[in-house]
This record gives sequence, C-alpha cells and structure tokens, in this order.
Amino acid sequence: MFFLVRYFHIDIIVIALLLSAVVYSSAYDVGVDYHATEADFIDSVFITQYHTPNVRSTVLTQLQGITDRGATFVSLRIWLVAQPNGSADPNWQATFPLSDQEKTNLHQYANDVASIQSAIDGHRLRLDVCLLWLGAADYTIGNLTVDFGYFHLNASEFTLRVEKTVDSVLQALANVKRPDGVLLVQTVYLEGEVMIGAKANQDWFLATHYPRFIEVVTNANFTPSVYFLVDGLEKHVLQADYIDAQFPALNGHRSMYWVYRSLNFMKNEKLPLPSRIDFSCYIDRQTATYESLISHIIDDASASLSVLGAPDLYGVAETYYFVDDTQRNEYGQAFAIEALLNPRLDRLSFWTTPDAGGQGVNVAYPFAIEDFLLPSSY
Ligand SMILES: *[C@@H]1O[C@H](CO)[C@@H](O)[C@H](O)[C@H]1NC(C)=O
Ligand SMILES: *[C@@H]1O[C@H](CO)[C@@H](O)[C@H](O)[C@H]1NC(C)=O
Ligand SMILES: *[C@@H]1O[C@H](CO)[C@@H](O)[C@H](O)[C@H]1NC(C)=O
Repeated sequence: MFFLVRYFHIDIIVIALLLSAVVYSSAYDVGVDYHATEADFIDSVFITQYHTPNVRSTVLTQLQGITDRGATFVSLRIWLVAQPNGSADPNWQATFPLSDQEKTNLHQYANDVASIQSAIDGHRLRLDVCLLWLGAADYTIGNLTVDFGYFHLNASEFTLRVEKTVDSVLQALANVKRPDGVLLVQTVYLEGEVMIGAKANQDWFLATHYPRFIEVVTNANFTPSVYFLVDGLEKHVLQADYIDAQFPALNGHRSMYWVYRSLNFMKNEKLPLPSRIDFSCYIDRQTATYESLISHIIDDASASLSVLGAPDLYGVAETYYFVDDTQRNEYGQAFAIEALLNPRLDRLSFWTTPDAGGQGVNVAYPFAIEDFLLPSSY
C-alpha cells in the first residue's frame, strides 16, 4: 500500500500506468527457489530423501502453503556432487549421474507439484529445474588435458555423466501434467549463474554440453536455458562513467558486466541465446532506493544486451529474501513496481537456503510471498 501512496503524489500518469498494468498483472509470476524443508541446507534438501514418508508429507504441506500465498511456480535446484558408489553423502549432494532412487524421487516430486491447487483461488504451479555442478561434477576443477572435478574424471567420462544426468532428469519430468492438462515443467537450466571468463572451463562446459542439452530439452517440450548473474552492488549499478575496455556496449551499464560477456560467448559459439534472459540479482543498496536500482539494472540490460540480439525480456532467477519484514517488503515491491511499469520483467523467484537473507542468514518455509506480488489487489 505505502508505495502506491508515494506514487500518487508524483504523477497522475504513473497512476494510470499502474492501473492499466493491473489489468494484465497475471503476466508477472512470482516463485520460490524451493529445494529444502528447513533453513539447514546440508540436511534438509529434500530431493535425495523424498522417498522418506515424512519428508514427502512435509514438502506437500509446504507446497500447499506456498501456492495458497500466491506463488505460481517453484524452482528446484539439483546439486550434482557425489560419486555413484553408495557412500553416505549429506542430503544436499545428489549423485553424478543421478541414482535410481533420485530419479524416482524427482518423478514423484514432479507428480506432487502437479497435484497442488490453491485453496484460495484455484491456481496451480509450474516447475522449473536447474542443475548445478559441484564435487565430482565440478568442471571448474582441472582442465581438458588432464581431467575434471574433485574425483578426476576424464573429459569423456565427465561428458558421459552430464548426458546421463540430463537424460534421467528429463525422463523423470517428461509428460508430467497437471489435472488441467498443462505440462508441469517450463524451463530446465543447464547451469545457474553462468559467468564466462570468471569460472574456469565454463566455456568448455557450455560449448560441449549446451547444444545437445537444447535438443533433448526441446524434444521433451520444455524450454532449455541457463541463467546469468547481475552485479547488483549499488556503486557499480550507478557508475555512470563506467568504461568497459573490451565492450563499449557496456559503457555506463556495469551491472551487465558478466551477463554481456556470457551472452557474447554464446553468440560467438553460435549457441542459441535463451528466449528470456534470466539472472540472479542480489541488490546491495547504500543510499539509493531499491526501485531506482532495479529499474537501472533492467534499463542496463535493455541498452547493452540488445547489441548482441538478446530478447528484451527478463526473469530474476535468484534474489534476496530478507528476514526483516520492512526491508523485504520494500525490496519485493521494488521488483513488482518495475514489472508493473515495464512488462520486460516477466517473473521473479527468490532464494531460500543457504544465505537468502545475506551471508549466513538462511530462510525456510513459510515465506511471505505477498511481499513480492503485484499490488493488483489494492
Ligand atoms: C567413492 O568414490 C570416491 C572417489 O573415487 C572415494 O574417495 C570414496 O572413498 C568412495 N567411497 C566408497 C564408500 O567406496
Ligand atoms: C592442466 O592441469 C595440470 C595439472 O594441474 C597442469 O599441469 C597443466 O598445466 C594444466 N594445463 C593447462 C592447459 O592448463
Ligand atoms: C576415461 O575414464 C573412463 C572411466 O574411468 C575409462 O573407462 C576410459 O578409458 C577413460 N578414457 C580415456 C580416454 O582415458
């Protein structure tokens, strides 16, 4: 409510924009980066232990609450980490490639997400899935001439396992439909926070695996993608005199430093650019408003990425979930206002655990999803 009041005395045109945008407000989706039942990430990541009845029933309860409070999608991360030799790994570590139990769990989870319906307004969820590669699957360790990952897999073995992982994820998710006939899964991300130039061997990883990934994900009728990382530090976002030594399109648009470099790499490699540009967006403010920073960031994206032929459509794939109610509401509403004023911002999902509220500040269900929703009910 309070941000509307602030707009009311600024300009009648802004009010008109707000009101007209409310009509198609359902275009802005809010979701949760939901992968754990509690704040403790190590133990409470659920996909590896979904066959445990009380884990599954807790997740079902939480999904219902998430939906009732207005989320329209959940976004699952799967951390591929462990060796497939049956050692007792912490719950957050899925196996590289997925074990049979994990495949079964993923399929069951997808069916369960598909079954959820809001008790308030009857809407249902969509599901996104993002793969993340660490430990045995950490391609930033090693190199092409030696081997990759914590356990020294050679390149052909590594690629074989990536392909097996992708195939089994798709097998688990394929054709899972909601009772209203809608395919449950929307986007499958091969990697999160892609930063070409900052993460060793990521160029190799994408060039080698993304083409096949696009093909098999598209064949499953899902949208293949990766997401990028925005530099949300206030002094970088607002650095009007920023000059990029390599890419003049970035002059004055420093927030896009890594997004631009990553998309530029994809373009040079003739990898199709995503149909919507998604990124993590953690805004660290000093004195500016969150509204001015997010609108600056989206303007930076439009101005610089268009040079590469990227679509002018954006999704926030991760962002803060502050534990302070006032700060979180102000933060969430800044994104919602940006989406109202400019439908380039298509959706947002916020991070949970670990570190959603800042380093060491983990959050868990229940979530105040309304803080991020459009003010269409006002
Ligand atoms: C599993 O494999 C890893 C890497 O080869 C090894 O370090 C670990 O000891 C193995 N664990 C078991 C239980 O065999
Ligand atoms: C690859 O890694 C090995 C072992 O760390 C190292 O000796 C070699 O110089 C690296 N090669 C390249 C091309 O970086
Ligand atoms: C790569 O590793 C796999 C599994 O350890 C092994 O079977 C294969 O022979 C290795 N390939 C090369 C080219 O070293």
